[in-house]
Amino acid sequence: MTGIIGAMEMEVQGLVERMEEPCIETISGIKFYQGRLMGKPVVVAQCGVGKVAAAVVAQTMILRYGVDLLVNTGVAGSLSKDVRIFDLVISTETAEHDMDTSPLGDEIGYISGLGIVRMKADEAAAESFARQAEAMGINVRRGLVVSGDQFIASEQQRIKIKSSFPDALCAEMEGASIGHVCYQNSVPFCIIRAISDNADGEADMDFPSFAKKASQVSTQLVLKYLEG
Ligand code: ADE
Repeated sequence: MTGIIGAMEMEVQGLVERMEEPCIETISGIKFYQGRLMGKPVVVAQCGVGKVAAAVVAQTMILRYGVDLLVNTGVAGSLSKDVRIFDLVISTETAEHDMDTSPLGDEIGYISGLGIVRMKADEAAAESFARQAEAMGINVRRGLVVSGDQFIASEQQRIKIKSSFPDALCAEMEGASIGHVCYQNSVPFCIIRAISDNADGEADMDFPSFAKKASQVSTQLVLKYLEG
């Protein structure tokens, strides 16, 4: 079964609406919708915003539902001039840009308990998502997705992230936490994000204008992936 996690209602509603008679279970205050989507067995949940919220739901999907792939769908702020609003980013790896034990000599993003910074996403899933996105005629890039408990909306924040993660394609607030939980549980994962803003001084204006449509782009890709 595939687990699908989105942070905000707009990021999951297009999936939940299309499920055939889902069985709904509430755990830790989160509704888990289990059933079929495009004929495939799935469990879908809206986790809420931020790394802890996403970790709670990712771990629950693994332990309670035994998911064999976790997909995170939603929107993100672009960190690359080649990635524009409504383009898609598919993770090859994730990192937590706000994890900082650098005063102890560690790299930014270093997860002490695991001894690594970057979590590798599932290559087969990423390949399949990228193929579907190309078939849909959407601009798609594969690479590093970074997450932190911050909405990135200034040049200063952007520069700080890029100084530690120059290859990061986009920033959001949950993907790397899901990557972290999946790594610890040896469960494959893939982060799918459509761009809603450029994580710059205009992000606070762009996000409300473009997040809904960007969410739909990401939802469409998840549906195509399941269909394919
Ligand atoms: N999700 C969408 N845009 C974002 C941004 N600029 N920062 C963090 N998360 C986001």
